[in-house]
Amino acid sequence: MNLIERPRRLRRTQTIRALVRETTLSPDDLVYPLFVCEGEGVRREIGSMPGVFNLSIDELIKEVAAARSVGIQSVILFGVPDEKDAVGTQAYAEDGITQRAIRALKREVKDMLVIADNCLCEYTEHGHCGVIEGGEVLNDPTLDLLASTAVTQAEAGADIIAPSNMMDGFVAAIREALDESGFEHIPIMSYAVKYASGFYGPFREAAQSAPQFGDRRGYQMDPANSREAMREAELDYQQGADMLMVKPALPYLDIIRAVRERFDLPIAAYQVSGEYAMIKAAGRLGWIDEERVALEALTSIKRAGADIILTYFARELADHL
Ligand code: PBG
Repeated sequence: MNLIERPRRLRRTQTIRALVRETTLSPDDLVYPLFVCEGEGVRREIGSMPGVFNLSIDELIKEVAAARSVGIQSVILFGVPDEKDAVGTQAYAEDGITQRAIRALKREVKDMLVIADNCLCEYTEHGHCGVIEGGEVLNDPTLDLLASTAVTQAEAGADIIAPSNMMDGFVAAIREALDESGFEHIPIMSYAVKYASGFYGPFREAAQSAPQFGDRRGYQMDPANSREAMREAELDYQQGADMLMVKPALPYLDIIRAVRERFDLPIAAYQVSGEYAMIKAAGRLGWIDEERVALEALTSIKRAGADIILTYFARELADHL
């Protein structure tokens, strides 16, 4: 009679561990976020995000082609325009930086899935994600601008629209506008559950999108809430979202798991700028093994239930998967 259970039997060798491994990562799971700016030959590194750059369109094409060659097949684009105004005109301009970048990518890099982030904060001078009146971010007037943004992004050739601004009703507004313009085949990946997070700090340096007054707590979610996350996900599901995103990722694994269990849509998780910056910084100090920790974090996010992970590590780690 065997008195001791021996789970170590299945851990003895690399081959047996591989045989019983429950979660694996593939480059197909990853989406590579990129920041596109005006100019030519621009490759400006973000101080708080080593290895991440503001790229002009010509440099973007090179970066995306390099990512494609190591097996990455999806990118998500964020525009960093030169001109900002109160209503984010460059977000929905037909020749806006994002629209031009999408056209160039679809032309130059074959078989690359291009996802367009859909928000106003990178395009408004006040840095908020919508139209402002009396210090308030207005919901319904903002929806029309998001809808126009989605249509110009689809016209430019975007394969998926990813609305991230957390206005109520944004999925329905975008779905309706896309359908009316003949883009009923274009999916929506909704940032359904997006928390008002301190982990977005480095992104705001990269996208130059820090709010000039106040913060985003009036539209993004309170980190303390999980039941509310189910409500947000349910609303976007009902409005026709094709995929649901949870963001940030690692501090919100419980939320990823709960959304996974409740909905049968593909679930995406965004390993955000602050998550990336912490791993990079500690790695540079020699305090952790950067590559190992990055892979562990991504594996954990997938194990929690994410099918798709948006990560700044995509290109770097594709070779190690
Ligand atoms: C735009 C947007 C943000 C991020 C993705 N889309 C910034 C924000 O809401 O402040 C953050 C991504 C990251 O931190 O990597 N609204």
